[in-house]
Amino acid sequence: MTKSRSGFSAAVLISGNGSNLQAFIDAVTARELDIELAVVISNKANAYGLSRANKAGVAAMTVPSIDYQNRADFEVALARAVDSYEPDIIVLAGFMRILTPSFVSRYAGRIINIHPSLLPKYPGLHTHQRVLDAGERWHGCTVHYVSGELDGGPAIIQGRVPVLDHDDEDQLAARVLEVEHRIFPRALALIANGRIRLEDAEVWYDGQKLLEPIQLTS
Ligand code: GRF
Repeated sequence: MTKSRSGFSAAVLISGNGSNLQAFIDAVTARELDIELAVVISNKANAYGLSRANKAGVAAMTVPSIDYQNRADFEVALARAVDSYEPDIIVLAGFMRILTPSFVSRYAGRIINIHPSLLPKYPGLHTHQRVLDAGERWHGCTVHYVSGELDGGPAIIQGRVPVLDHDDEDQLAARVLEVEHRIFPRALALIANGRIRLEDAEVWYDGQKLLEPIQLTS
């Protein structure tokens, strides 16, 4: 894997397919994202994203949530794994476990997540079907800092997609996922080069308070 010049490193947490992880790997390889992918950690041993990491020469490991009696014990093991790589940021890329406020505060301002909706609309699961059921005309995805609240925390960047007349859940999900793969590396690049930062629970972009999330335009 290409070495970063910035020295900024990320631990990517996944649970499954890892297509967002692949977007990071591709962006780093293309030198569009100057970070080091320090480690990929999955809470599921069969996550396909682990193979993607191996193929790219990125350290990969599993901390199987199923092996732990409770959330607190799992998070102790997860933190130990994360800390052994000393990442600058923890990136939740399809990591399907809720993290407790205690874990989040340990890495205050250093965890970001991608969520498949235009937050604050549709936090939680099954966002695509809920958007279709509600008859929305627009849908999308949001990269945000993680707070103790489910899919809460200050938004950084959003990408919007139209909901088309005959969309089903899979078609809509695929259209959103394509945009996820564009906004997530972009958000990470902005953080790595210091243009985006979190201060007092607010996002600052090029020295100005960000009042609305950045919108993906191209
Ligand atoms: C994405 O839709 C992401 O927004 C959600 O889980 C999915 C993960 O996809 N949190 P992948 O594992 O990156 O392919």
